[in-house]
Amino acid sequence: MKKIISVVGARPNFMKVAPIHRAFQKYSDKIQHLICHTGQHYDEKMSKVFFDDLELPKPDFYLGVGSGSHAEQTAKVMMEFEKVLLAEKPDMILVVGDVNSTIACSLTAAKLHIKVVHVEAGLRSFDRKMPEEVNRVLTDAISDYLFVTEKSGLENLKHEGVDDSKVFFVGNVMIDSLAYYLDKTNGRTILSDFGLTPQNYLLVTLHRPSNVDSKEQLTKLIGMLERLSEKRKVIFPIHPRTRKNLSDYNLLNDNNDNLILTDPIGYIDFLTLTKNAELILTDSGGIQEESTYLGVQCITLRTSTERPITVEVGTNQLLGNDLNKAEQTALDILSGKKKEGKIPELWDGKAAERIAAILAEKI
Ligand code: UD1
Repeated sequence: MKKIISVVGARPNFMKVAPIHRAFQKYSDKIQHLICHTGQHYDEKMSKVFFDDLELPKPDFYLGVGSGSHAEQTAKVMMEFEKVLLAEKPDMILVVGDVNSTIACSLTAAKLHIKVVHVEAGLRSFDRKMPEEVNRVLTDAISDYLFVTEKSGLENLKHEGVDDSKVFFVGNVMIDSLAYYLDKTNGRTILSDFGLTPQNYLLVTLHRPSNVDSKEQLTKLIGMLERLSEKRKVIFPIHPRTRKNLSDYNLLNDNNDNLILTDPIGYIDFLTLTKNAELILTDSGGIQEESTYLGVQCITLRTSTERPITVEVGTNQLLGNDLNKAEQTALDILSGKKKEGKIPELWDGKAAERIAAILAEKI
């Protein structure tokens, strides 16, 4: 029996590991699949609700590291994960995405000569000021198996000298979760709970330091949302980091019924909001992909994207930090000027099955 430990840490990890865990069950005579939660995200609404919605088992290991500076958080994960690896001696560890837990766990395993699998490898924003970009580049450099979601990933890894034999283009595990749970959105009441009607509201998420850490930028963003809320209702589930800054800068104002500021929302309810939105404004990585898959209009408030396929073939538009342009584009979309999009290659709900089949053969 071989042992694989998959790592989850922050909110965007849970929906990626869920289909992988399901896919490994087919090989349960050969592979024991365990889950380690680092505790990078720990609030009920940032973590537990996802385990419930995604039918993930209780993690086999919980490291409880919590928040901290980048160095503190990364170091704490490394120290705790090393103990798990020394006790469990897995044959492989699997990490997803680009959060601090991803690099912390892959680095710990690589130093103990344990094979590292990186799912969602090869994505590059080419902006080293984003902590995620540093995490991506370093994780890929020490991974033994690299699973790629879009063609740009293949080119980036080739350019960085990663041997072809380690790289596999398999599609997108986050889209596996979306496709698997899409039907469940039909029975949800989240739209009526907030007084929203399909195709008639804007969905907003913002949590990147470049948008929410400076008072000036956050004030401008809220001003733009206030103006857009005169045209359509706007729902904005707020990440803890963003909430703290809104509160510190005195921008948490609840006297506009058309601008709904609310807590983070669980997986299936958020998918319901995504599917039915007329337009999404975001700085998230994953939401650019989910909106492309669903054919929903998306404006990304960032200067770069590590997921260029969503702009090349999908419904995403990358509008940087120029909010005048973003606002004008939003108004154009609301008056019917929509961007046509297609679903990218291999985003078919079967990426995790491909990954499990490859690893079952290699292990
Ligand atoms: C992390 C990821 C980011 C991802 C995002 C999704 C890194 C470098 N960044 O950013 O790529 O898009 O998750 O949410 O790993 N906090 C809570 N409760 C929680 C978690 C966080 O209150 O459960 C607060 C804390 O004040 C914390 C802050 O949010 O200091 C930021 O959390 P952190 O995990 O450091 O980074 P995120 O901004 O969430």
